[in-house]
Amino acid sequence: MKLETGALIVVFLFGGTVLGLGFLVTKTHQRQTEANELAHQAGKRKLEALWSAPDFDLADQRGTRVSKASLAGRPWVVNFIFTSCRSVCPLLTAKMVQLQRKLPGVDVQFVSISVDPAHDDPMTLGAYAQQWAPGEKRWSLLATTPASLAPVLAGFKVTAEPSDAGIDPIVHSSVFVLVDAHGEVRALYDSEHREEFQALVRDTATLARAQPAPVQARTGEQLYAQLSCGPCHDHPGLAPALGGLMGKKVELDNGLLVDVDEGYLLESILIPDAKRVRGYPLRMPTYDGVIDSAELLTLLQYVKKLPEQGPVAAPKTAVDPICHMEVTVAEDTPHHDADGGTVWFCSETCRAKYLAR
Ligand code: HEC
Repeated sequence: MKLETGALIVVFLFGGTVLGLGFLVTKTHQRQTEANELAHQAGKRKLEALWSAPDFDLADQRGTRVSKASLAGRPWVVNFIFTSCRSVCPLLTAKMVQLQRKLPGVDVQFVSISVDPAHDDPMTLGAYAQQWAPGEKRWSLLATTPASLAPVLAGFKVTAEPSDAGIDPIVHSSVFVLVDAHGEVRALYDSEHREEFQALVRDTATLARAQPAPVQARTGEQLYAQLSCGPCHDHPGLAPALGGLMGKKVELDNGLLVDVDEGYLLESILIPDAKRVRGYPLRMPTYDGVIDSAELLTLLQYVKKLPEQGPVAAPKTAVDPICHMEVTVAEDTPHHDADGGTVWFCSETCRAKYLAR
């Protein structure tokens, strides 16, 4: 039942055509459809200026003010998320991280605007950024208030509405918007589609006058971390644990049992929707077109050998003593060296609070 509701939301988000659900007003549908139609033009975009991005002035996860004016001078890509979302946002954020990885060193900004003013403050967004892309300095996650959010959504022609159906309290648009260095919206993309995602990478690079650089060879462990498999697969509530899968039988959402072999693992990574594991409303992003065949094989070998149980593949984590969030321990994670060892924080804000005690 849970699964069906989740599927409905996904159908709504990506298809925009499920009518009569009764929890969204018609106006929402019209606007949603407008953004979706614009987002479904893979290959046809001329990257002409469509309209001016709205003005905003919001705090990011570092507590820095970010505005349309402060972003000017380089292209930026914006999407809409909320951190407690368990249905579609992890998928969108995985795509955001894939995009960042496809454009290493390119002079662009990545912006994720929270559609959950009540819950996502800069500190929460900081912990989320730490979890997904600890080293990414080009990514700003912006906290909103109800008053600041509404004009931003309207200005990007996207929607986010409270909903009491399904597993998430907010249903919102899944588009990625490409804005140029002068603040003009140039195109919208539905990152769910493989061609759309590739167009997004290409067009962002074009606006930044850069070539998407080939990514250097990595070990399986590095790939697993970089491709952000962990933020989903190391959380048993979101996605199945990947340790000790080889040779097992897995139950699919259609009730069939399949044997886990190399072919199944490869298919899971490249065409995740072909066989869906039972019990997970969240969908996995495809890595087809995101990694090359050598990387795919390295990743496959790594996943095959992941031992059963325990967050072995997870990057090292620690619990922030102030906000009690789990943070990934990386080189640039805010920390404090105390007598008893190092204390790690989700953000500078928490570190400052800790030091002020
Ligand atoms: C956005 C969250 C998310 C990300 C990121 C993600 N996955 Fe998944 N993955 C899922 C979910 C949810 C399932 C189970 C539902 C399904 O089968 O579609 C799944 C299923 C799988 C399966 C099948 C597991 C089984 O028990 O049969 C494999 C293998 C897998 N993922 C590998 C990976 C690898 C490798 C990566 C990183 C390159 C990755 N996933 C990234 C969410 C994610």
